[in-house]
Order: sequence, then C-alpha cells, then structure tokens
Amino acid sequence: MTKAVRVHQLGGPEVLTYEDVELAEPGPGEVRIRQHAIGLNFIDCYFRSGLYKASGLPFIVGNEGAGEITAVGPGVTNFHPGDRVAYYLNLGGYATERNAPADKLVKLPDYITYEQAAVLMLKGLTVFYLLHKTFQVQPGHRVLIHAAAGGVGSLATQWAKALGATVIGTAGSKEKADLALANGCDHVILYKTEDFAERVKQISRGELCDVVYDGVGKDTFQGSLKSLRRRGLFVSFGNASGPVPPFNLAELNNHGSLFATRPKLADHIATRAELIEGADALFAAVISGTLHVPINKAYALKDAAKAHTDLEARITTGSSVLKP
Ligand SMILES: NC(=O)c1ccc[n+]([C@@H]2O[C@H](COP(=O)([O-])OP(=O)(O)OC[C@H]3O[C@@H](n4cnc5c(N)ncnc54)[C@H](OP(=O)(O)O)[C@@H]3O)[C@@H](O)[C@H]2O)c1
Repeated sequence: MTKAVRVHQLGGPEVLTYEDVELAEPGPGEVRIRQHAIGLNFIDCYFRSGLYKASGLPFIVGNEGAGEITAVGPGVTNFHPGDRVAYYLNLGGYATERNAPADKLVKLPDYITYEQAAVLMLKGLTVFYLLHKTFQVQPGHRVLIHAAAGGVGSLATQWAKALGATVIGTAGSKEKADLALANGCDHVILYKTEDFAERVKQISRGELCDVVYDGVGKDTFQGSLKSLRRRGLFVSFGNASGPVPPFNLAELNNHGSLFATRPKLADHIATRAELIEGADALFAAVISGTLHVPINKAYALKDAAKAHTDLEARITTGSSVLKP
C-alpha cells in the first residue's frame, strides 16, 4: 500500500485526492522507489484539468521525482536497494512509494539532493533540450524567456546567460522581476502592464530576438512573433495561460519568414543515451555553479491541491516540491 494523490474526475485542484493505493511488487525490469521529493509542474495541472489526456481514470498525477530504491524486480541488474535515483515519467509521481522502469532512472551523484533531482528531471531536462537541441544558444544571441522567474524560466535564464546570450525575461510582478534579474536576466519586462513586444524592440534597438521561449501560450503568442528578428525561431513549449489558438501559417511569413516549433520533452529525451546525456549535462552544470537549483517552496504531498492552486494563481516562484 502507498499513499498517493489521484484524480478520479477531471477538474480543478479540489479533485486531487490523497488516499491509500495498492502497490504491486516491482515487475520485470522495474524497481520500487521510496520517494523523498516530487517535482511540482504546470504539466500536472494540465493532466488534472484534462488539457493533457491520461489514458484513463483514476490516475496518479506527477511526472518527476527522486528517492531511494527499496526493491528490484526480476532482471534488474544495474540498480540495487539503497541507490539514490531520479526520473521523469508519464504520471504516477504523486506517491510515497512507486514502481518505475529501471531503464528510465538516473543515479544521483552525492552532491545532488533529492529535492534538486526532483525538479531537474523534468524542468531541467526540458531546459537542456530547449537551449541545446531545439535551438543552440550561443554567445551573441538575444533570447526572450517568458515567465523567467518560474520553474523552467529560472533554470533557462541561468543557463542561457552562462551560454553567453543576452537574456530578456518577462515576469508577472516586481518581486518576480527581481528574481529574474538575480537569475541572470539582462532585462526584465513586466508583461502584465507593459507591451512586451514594444519593450523588446526598444531594448534591442529594433534588432529583436533570435529565439523566443514561450511556455505561457495564448496570452503571449502574438507578442512573441513580433519580438523575433527575420528568420528567428518561435519555440512554443507550454500553455500556462491557455493553448495557442489555431493560426494562419502566413503569419510566420508576415513577421519575417519565422520558424516555429512546438516541442516536447518525450521527443528529445526518448532514448537511454539521450537521458544520460541530458542528466550528465545538468549535473555538470550544477557542480560548475552554472545552475543554482533553489527549492522556493515545499508542500506536504497531502497538500497537493494547495500547491496546484498556488501554481495556477502565479504565486509560486522557481521550483517547488511535494514531500511525501
Ligand atoms: N514542452 C515541454 O517539454 C515542457 C516541459 C516542461 C514544462 N513545460 C511548460 O513550461 C511552462 C512552465 O512550466 P513550470 O512548471 O515551470 O511552471 P512555472 O513557470 O513555474 O509557472 C507558470 C508561470 O507562467 C506564468 N503565467 C503567465 N500567464 C499565466 C496564467 N494565465 N496562469 C498561470 N500562469 C501564468 C506565471 O509567471 P508570471 O507570474 O511571472 O507571469 C507562472 O508562474 C508550462 O507551460 C509547462 O507546460 C513544457
């Protein structure tokens, strides 16, 4: 038996139910993990609300976590009880204990805490592929990162700055703007009150951005296109304000022969080799001081509904974890 947060019907944070759930012995190729920290992600809200589809009801929310192996199933030879591990997986994360396929786990170096690992596997790997694969950020690039004080945004800002880019961030409040500046933004725009595309134009003296990383979606879509230089890249990777509405491809032409992509983590970290490459890069970035991974808020697992309410109300900053 494990304690888990399940969704029996789609809806708001109130549908998150903390309850006892049967846990089978780990099957072939699986291990059992006693979880120490679980990452809180906007994606969890999409699954809870039904914007992203789980395969059926009920389901356990949560896509990233870290903990200690307590048992291994048949055929598992490279992991052992006592190993410290972390993962990103489709659902099943909000639980005190869970089973997981061994080939989706990474072993944690001693200097990575469970809390850090629990936010690096989904958010950190996302930032890795966005900055290194979707577009290779290099010195001299001008990069716009929306919600620069958020979970993904905080990590992306630090790493883009370390790669030598000029980083323009957007933030929803003065406090968040200060945090984004501390993360390494060269400029921060308060996009609730300022026309961010106009401000990008001023800041860049009309040269605009090479790439826009947009996890906000509906509310920022048009301004993001306006913020790009000719042949720049629009990276739409999330929907915090709602999905980008259907649009006419000719808009990319009108804004200067833009490129656009709508990437997801599962397509960039699809193989074991890609997982290890990304995790190694993340851990190296932490130990070199490129990435600071502060956990700004820890919620008890049973308070997952409060965590979702805060995340959707734009109250959280940086990364948050749930503690079993
Ligand atoms: N495609 C992928 O592979 C992938 C992987 C991971 C995450 N993501 C996406 O990355 C984005 C960030 O995820 P996260 O977990 O790190 O969340 P987060 O950035 O910590 O939280 C979302 C932030 O979006 C901003 N926002 C703007 N309009 C909003 C609205 N109407 N409602 C709520 N928030 C709004 C808020 O910051 P301000 O108050 O500063 O505006 C809020 O703090 C999400 O869209 C998520 O789906 C995508």
